[in-house]
Amino acid sequence: MIKVGIIGCGKITQVRHAPEYAENPNCEIVAFFDNNYERAQELAKEYNAVACDTLDELLDMDLDAVSVNVANFAHADVTVRALNKGKHVLVEKPMATTVNECVSMINAAKENHVQLMVAQNQRFARAHVKAHELIQSGAIGKVLTFRTVFGHPGPEGWTGDANSWFFDKKLAHFGAMADLGVHKTDLMHYLLDDEITDVFAQIRTLDKKYPDGTPITVDDNSYCMYQTKKGAIGTMHVSWTFYGNEDNSTVIYGTEGILKCYTDPEYSLILEKKNGEVEKFQLDQMTSNKEQTSNGRTNTGVIDGFVNALLEGKEVPVPGYDASKAMRVVIAAEESAAKNCMVKVKY
Ligand SMILES: NC(=O)c1ccc[n+]([C@@H]2O[C@H](COP(=O)([O-])OP(=O)(O)OC[C@H]3O[C@@H](n4cnc5c(N)ncnc54)[C@H](O)[C@@H]3O)[C@@H](O)[C@H]2O)c1
Repeated sequence: MIKVGIIGCGKITQVRHAPEYAENPNCEIVAFFDNNYERAQELAKEYNAVACDTLDELLDMDLDAVSVNVANFAHADVTVRALNKGKHVLVEKPMATTVNECVSMINAAKENHVQLMVAQNQRFARAHVKAHELIQSGAIGKVLTFRTVFGHPGPEGWTGDANSWFFDKKLAHFGAMADLGVHKTDLMHYLLDDEITDVFAQIRTLDKKYPDGTPITVDDNSYCMYQTKKGAIGTMHVSWTFYGNEDNSTVIYGTEGILKCYTDPEYSLILEKKNGEVEKFQLDQMTSNKEQTSNGRTNTGVIDGFVNALLEGKEVPVPGYDASKAMRVVIAAEESAAKNCMVKVKY
């Protein structure tokens, strides 16, 4: 049995971490902590657990693992403190706000002989898992180009707060580029078994404003041109200004065909072969923010992946060092946008 504590009791804990831990028969939620005590108390009541007054109180408990689901600026600090107390950590994306923070988290896990996983849930979506398998088996030949998109109307619809911390550079550090871009950058690394080496990015605040009319202090759109180690080129567009249905699609073009992930409402994966054959897969539909909010009980596989790896003594599915590569790309993209030129990613 894995004993778990959850730090940060906002939306992602309410709709993903807490229900998915609770549904896993091999773990028990023991404690919650949030700077906002009432939030921790509400969840503690719902899940028959303890609400802690301080972070140290939770970290001193007899726990195997914790989820770190706080605002982005505090990911590294809280994660390192938990790792230093010998807890395995599942931290939400974006992993941290700087490369140095990512490195300190990876080192703390190593030094304390515990595991660090980053909640890059796109890797677990069924069409992505199947697309990865098909690419590895050579179904579309050598990958030449790709385009990946993640856009929705913005995080204020998710948290229900028009003055959301997601808009505040001090608390979020990044805007759509890291909120959504880190998902799709990590996804491309995973799907192609490759690394983005060069980036040209335009990162802008085009439209999003606070209710009083002042522009938010982070980006709401980012357009990136990527080049990979294996020689593929592609684009990534992430946005908080898609004022309609969410777009969460990825298309990969190879020498022998095309793979389309989440472009069709019925078939989440479509394989189009060079010879005209088409294979359609009805796997799942991407869990949109709207769906997570309305039914609150969709299993992403992230929590089960974390818990099962700990139980079996195996490496977690998205280890910190692997997820940190996408953060290096995001940070290179910021540099590219600031300098208006192509930038090499520093690995
Ligand atoms: N994987 C995904 O698809 C996904 C989706 C949404 C959010 N997230 C990530 O999850 C994290 C939390 O986002 P959310 O949507 O739940 O936000 P939220 O605003 O709903 O909740 C954040 C909570 O953290 C608490 N908090 C902030 N700083 C804290 C600290 N230092 N110590 C203790 N508590 C603290 C706040 O009081 C709040 O209750 C963010 O990093 C976000 O990027 C990931």
